[in-house]
Amino acid sequence: MRLRARQVWSTTFLMAVFIGVWAGTRSYGQASRLASTPPMGWNDWYQYGCTVSDAIVRANVDVLVSSGMRDAGYKYVNIDDCWQGKRDAQGFIHPNSRFPDMKALADYIHSKGLKFGLYSSPGPKTCAGYEGSYQYERRDAETYAKWGVDFLKYDWCSASRVYAPDQMQAAYRKMHEALESTGRPILFSLCQYGLEGVWRWGASVGGNMWRTTPDIGGNYDRVSLFGFMQNGLETYTGPGHWNDPDILQIGLGRLNHDEELTQMSLWCLLAAPLLAGNNLTKMSNDTLKILTNPEVIAVDQDPEGIEGHRVWQEGPLEVWVKPLSDRSMVVGLFNRSESPLPITVRFKAIRMKDNVRVRDLWARKDLGDFHGHYTAKVPRHGVVLLKLE
Ligand code: GLA
Repeated sequence: MRLRARQVWSTTFLMAVFIGVWAGTRSYGQASRLASTPPMGWNDWYQYGCTVSDAIVRANVDVLVSSGMRDAGYKYVNIDDCWQGKRDAQGFIHPNSRFPDMKALADYIHSKGLKFGLYSSPGPKTCAGYEGSYQYERRDAETYAKWGVDFLKYDWCSASRVYAPDQMQAAYRKMHEALESTGRPILFSLCQYGLEGVWRWGASVGGNMWRTTPDIGGNYDRVSLFGFMQNGLETYTGPGHWNDPDILQIGLGRLNHDEELTQMSLWCLLAAPLLAGNNLTKMSNDTLKILTNPEVIAVDQDPEGIEGHRVWQEGPLEVWVKPLSDRSMVVGLFNRSESPLPITVRFKAIRMKDNVRVRDLWARKDLGDFHGHYTAKVPRHGVVLLKLE
């Protein structure tokens, strides 16, 4: 009798484990195999808006390769809004005249060892007024798979006209299921500006990344406002699913050198997707260096995928940390004030031993061994990014 009870118990336990594992795999599906580290690539929106074309995309693709950006990790070539034309009698979407042959463009991108991203909306129209996917989700997913799409940014836009806020999750899940049913792995990028606490449910509707903010386009005030406001969201990020504070503004002409270092450092500490947004064909050497510093990118791409957070703040001065899988700690000393100021990191406060080896990741230079603390003078709107071991 006792034996039988034990058998029943262990069978129930095994079944529970099996159902748990099955449900877990099912809710993420294909998605869990994508974006094991934060996605990296290029997006045309901030540079080209609705003038984007096949020729523009190809020109930027060529520089992604020749500049070394692809090899530094920038793999996705994402066409944002404004590529859509009309639907045919069967409801299948076609590109507009700026994109004469989407399949050929995808083939070109793939032939360069890159991946191809597109954009749509769960609403009837995109934010720029082009065709959205509302009621055509399956057909659009099929079309994307046929063209060879690897990434879909799905932007809420006019969906608020046809869905109530509590239907948002279902609207995103619907497209996720449509993408899954094609059998092609397509990274799913949710864009709804951080509404409805998306970080809490983005992964459960199949999202590999989700925007946590409104559109970032602008100067340092906007970039720093949205970047530093990510603190607290770190528990929602991990391999396969990432908080996305929007496209890099580096090389777009609205940030100075120190401000660009701030965005790149902060995005890497945040384990955020790194989507360059600039005109690559006119990129300065300084921009390229900022986008491709391998030691800084390695912070973003650390396989453990832990999102950093703020450990200290005094008015406009902030210290952020991100633990890496090699047991080292990356520390960002940020100065958001209007003049250069010293900032100190105390090793005990970030749970490190008293003796620490310090490396400057932007200078790519070992600074030596330090006892108890390290202090650096940080430029106005700037950062010092350190690796501590
Ligand atoms: C919204 C998104 C942007 C961009 C535009 C395109 O504003 O948040 O990232 O995709 O739409 O219209």
